[in-house]
Amino acid sequence: MKLDGAKIIDLPKTLDRRGNLSVIEEHKNISFIIKRTYWIYDVPGGEMRGGHAYKNNQEFIVALSGSFDVILDNGIEKKTFSLNRSYYGLYVPKGVWRQMQNFSTNSLALILASTEFNKSDYIYDYEQFKEFSK
Ligand code: TYD
Repeated sequence: MKLDGAKIIDLPKTLDRRGNLSVIEEHKNISFIIKRTYWIYDVPGGEMRGGHAYKNNQEFIVALSGSFDVILDNGIEKKTFSLNRSYYGLYVPKGVWRQMQNFSTNSLALILASTEFNKSDYIYDYEQFKEFSK
């Protein structure tokens, strides 16, 4: 089942009295080559993001600041991951319905993606997603 591939990945942390540092490296911390990086910020209270699946794109999501929930759904089961620290992230396999919600004030979501932006990779219709995921 595809949701089994979704997982929280701890990132290296360099603790320092001058401030802490974390890092993500291809192959070491995440399994895919990073083709794209985007971030979501200034989310008004109560808003949701996502609400779609990707046919091919894989993602790694980090709460660089603040907190939010990522809800993953493989058409059979749903799982909620709460992200609230910048030293771990959530790996989201392809073919999973994902929604992001409960953004705290000033939260900042960093998303590393395995593909370039491609509108035709999106599935926006949940029934179509369920057919696709079979
Ligand atoms: P979308 O992926 O639907 O956002 P979310 O899943 O967070 O709700 O993208 C919102 C808009 O931003 C959409 O019109 C396309 C644009 N966009 C890009 O141009 N490039 C990108 O890499 C991404 C992720 C979105």
